[in-house]
Amino acid sequence: MGHTRLFSFSSAFFWSLLLLSQLIITLAGAQAAVGPVGVGVNYGMIGDNLPTPEQVVGLYKSRNITGLRLFDPNPAALKALERSGIRVVLGTRNEDLQALASNASFAAAWVNANVLPHAASIRFQYITAGNEVIPGDLAGNVLQAMQNLDAALVAAGLSIPVTTVVATQVLGVSFPPSQGSFSQSSLPFMVPIVSFLAAKQTPLLVNVYPYFAYSGDPKDVPLDYALFNAKQPPVIDGGLSYMNLFDAIVDAMYSALEKAGGPPGLQLVVSETGWPSGGGGLGATVENAQTYNNNVVAHVKSNAGTPKRPGKALETYLFAMFNEDQKPPGTEQNFGLYHPDMTEVYHVNF
Ligand SMILES: *[C@@H]1O[C@H](CO)[C@@H](O)[C@H](O)[C@H]1NC(C)=O
Ligand SMILES: *[C@@H]1O[C@H](CO)[C@@H](O)[C@H](O)[C@H]1NC(C)=O
Repeated sequence: MGHTRLFSFSSAFFWSLLLLSQLIITLAGAQAAVGPVGVGVNYGMIGDNLPTPEQVVGLYKSRNITGLRLFDPNPAALKALERSGIRVVLGTRNEDLQALASNASFAAAWVNANVLPHAASIRFQYITAGNEVIPGDLAGNVLQAMQNLDAALVAAGLSIPVTTVVATQVLGVSFPPSQGSFSQSSLPFMVPIVSFLAAKQTPLLVNVYPYFAYSGDPKDVPLDYALFNAKQPPVIDGGLSYMNLFDAIVDAMYSALEKAGGPPGLQLVVSETGWPSGGGGLGATVENAQTYNNNVVAHVKSNAGTPKRPGKALETYLFAMFNEDQKPPGTEQNFGLYHPDMTEVYHVNF
């Protein structure tokens, strides 16, 4: 056959491709064994009666919770996380944002103090500059802080994505999902952040709380829809139908990203979601919290994605591991999966 020569010439290439693809499959398999991108849990520490970080990390491991978000670089928590195999989202304190943004040496010192000593023993998933500061007085620092942290990480020889965490308050329009867009007060901050993240192929982190949408507007937001229990698609948006509010909120954010110039590949990570089990708020019951959190875990683990991004894994972190007694009184103190004595408030199947 006339192609024989070409075939034999290319067979070496073919075999090397095959080996390469097997290597990639093996690597992907190894990563999946460590813990697929799935459901992590926020480790909030605003309590005076919480277990030690060693006990907390032990609890995560005993439950096979493979991801953890830390709100600030707590040294004892970072020490306890070393060699745990848990992937860690590490935040900067909002109080440090201005210095991180205006002083590259401060950002380098932050990386050298909080990341570099643990880099060989902790898998840092993201470093986040700022939590829910857009819009607001600190919003103007976020991009520069991200840039300085990124440069400091590169200078330290580390390859860890840098991003920020936003609340859905960045949205001016959130319904229907296809109309989602950033508010006029957020847009000037979000556009350059979106472009930074797109260039680095790093996701934006967003806190998603169907609970607050429901409790703030129970007449228009059915409880079943917020709890992933709707029997009929209650929201039809163009060609897409929404069975739950979680997906509708995530897709409103995707619409806003697109309108702010984000490419289709720019991803979201849900850095917080949860439901209070008490504290007096409307619908804040153990039963609803258990229903919501189990349903969100099952939804995320199914890799169904959202109607706008079907079949796309959505990395998600529940809020939070513990009830935190030094948060504002009421529902805020009751988002934990666990009591401070490490007994379950209710069971979540991970
Ligand atoms: C955690 O994962 C291991 C290994 O897959 C399994 O044997 C164990 O039962 C799991 N534990 C829990 C609490 O799910
Ligand atoms: C910048 O940060 C470095 C390192 O923390 C600090 O020594 C220096 O004083 C800071 N410069 C200013 C102008 O704040």
